Amino acid sequence: MFDEAMGGDSWMFSRALVAKCREAFEGLSSLVDVGGSTGDTAKVIAEAFPGIHCTVFDLPHVVAAAAASTEETLGSNLSYVAGDMLTDDIPQADALFFKWVLIDWPDEPCLKVLKQCKKALSNSNGGKGKVMIVDHVMGHESCSDKSSMGTSLLFDLGVMACLEGYVRTEEQWAKLFSDAGFSDYTITPVAGLRLLIQVYP
Ligand SMILES: C[S@@+](CC[C@H](N)C(=O)[O-])C[C@H]1O[C@@H](n2cnc3c(N)ncnc32)[C@H](O)[C@@H]1O
Repeated sequence: MFDEAMGGDSWMFSRALVAKCREAFEGLSSLVDVGGSTGDTAKVIAEAFPGIHCTVFDLPHVVAAAAASTEETLGSNLSYVAGDMLTDDIPQADALFFKWVLIDWPDEPCLKVLKQCKKALSNSNGGKGKVMIVDHVMGHESCSDKSSMGTSLLFDLGVMACLEGYVRTEEQWAKLFSDAGFSDYTITPVAGLRLLIQVYP
C-alpha cells in the first residue's frame, strides 16, 4: 500500500517536474532514481527523454514487486537494479536522483549516501554529473507563507515521529552537501512544497 501511494504521488508530480524543469534533464544520458520505488517517476522521465537511460534502484523486495508488475511496459531505456544505498555501490550515472528519500533519514546516513554519490558521479559525463533531489526545504522563499510553513512543520513532525528524518532548511542541506564534498547547488521550485535541488561536484 505504501509503494502504491508513493507511485500515485509520483505519477502526478513527475509530469510537473519534466514539464517545468526540462533543462535540468537536457544533456543527460543516464539517471539512477535512488529509492525509486515502483518506478513511476523513472517511467515519466524515460518517456519524456528517450535519450536518457533510467535505472530504478531500490531494496530487493521493492524492485522485485515493481519490476514484475511493469514487465510488459518496460521500455528499452528503463531498467531496475536491486540494492541497498547504504551498503551497496550506487550504479554510476550522469544524474543520481532522489525524490522524497533523504527526508526520511538523519544526517549521518544521508552524508554516507551523498559521499557514495560523489564516487558514482566521478566517472560519468566527464565528471560533470550531478545529484538531483526532489524534497522540501523548510522556510524557502518560494514557500515561506504561513500556510506553507504550517504544512512543512506538520510534515516535519510526521517524518520525525514515524522515521528518523526531518525537513531540512536550506542551511542544513547546504552543510550536508559541503560535508559530502560537493561544491555548489541550485534550488528550483517545482510544485507546492517540493523543490528540485541540483547538487554539483
Ligand atoms: C518515501 S519512499 C519514496 C519513493 C519514491 N522515490 C517516490 O517519491 O515515490 C522511500 C523509498 O526509499 C527506499 N529505500 C529505503 N531504504 C533504502 C535503502 N537502504 N536503499 C535503497 N532504497 C531504500 C524505499 O524502499 C522507498 O521506495
